[in-house]
Amino acid sequence: MSSRREECGKTEAPGASKPCELQGKEGRGNRALLPGADRVIDAIDKEMLGFLKEQLRSTWVYDFTSALRTPIHYRRWLRNGCPHPPSGFVKRRILREYAKRFPADVFVETGTYRGGTLSALRHDFPELHSIELNPEFAARARRIFKSDPHITIHEGDSAVVLEKVLAQIKGKSAIFWLDGHYFSKVPQFVEDESPIAGELEHIRNSDVEPLVILIDDVREFDGTRGYFTLEGLKEEMETIRKDRQFYVLDDIIRWHV
Ligand SMILES: C[S@@+](CC[C@H](N)C(=O)[O-])C[C@H]1O[C@@H](n2cnc3c(N)ncnc32)[C@H](O)[C@@H]1O
Repeated sequence: MSSRREECGKTEAPGASKPCELQGKEGRGNRALLPGADRVIDAIDKEMLGFLKEQLRSTWVYDFTSALRTPIHYRRWLRNGCPHPPSGFVKRRILREYAKRFPADVFVETGTYRGGTLSALRHDFPELHSIELNPEFAARARRIFKSDPHITIHEGDSAVVLEKVLAQIKGKSAIFWLDGHYFSKVPQFVEDESPIAGELEHIRNSDVEPLVILIDDVREFDGTRGYFTLEGLKEEMETIRKDRQFYVLDDIIRWHV
């Protein structure tokens, strides 16, 4: 009877080493001799990938790859029945639609994180500001956008720093993306997980025209940890401008005419 190997035309001599035997115990080769080597290699890979991403984030390479990936993610999301919550790609596409629909002078973001949203929107506004509480992430974002003079990264708690940012853009119109909140990937001590109450107060008291306010993560608004309930948030936002509507869709609270 002919074996599978013979069918391939390569008959092995009886007792010949099989490839997995050459790799040593448990098939792990020499790495088995260095306990923890896998973890070190993974960490180096992750570090290198992070470095590479950081270098590319503000270049045409990022624009090119995200121009290819965003429609793929968006179509997949639609095809799968709009699962909740949508990915960052989908949310950035929604933000870009708002940028087209409500041309504004400035984009203001709270919670910069890795600068993904800033990268995606940096050609859609003449001026962009983003506030990040974590000093490491703020410093990294400054490095990423050092060649984009129209982007300013501010370090600090957005419940406090937003006041200063709004004073800088006095008299201008803005789209707000309020996404600064406690984030398990960037753990740090803050009294309230959400700075939303302070942020809305600064917007209300400022001389900036808030064309659109978008607030991420509807699912967090349960009246605890500094978050309003949705009803409480709606009432709060009605005090900013009376002629705006409050919508909730795809994990994003939307406030505009
Ligand atoms: C969900 S991530 C932001 C994602 C980013 N906006 C994007 O669209 O790619 C939340 C970020 O908010 C930051 N953060 C948390 N509390 C903050 C606060 N009070 N003020 C400013 N940033 C804050 C966290 O360090 C984290 O980087």
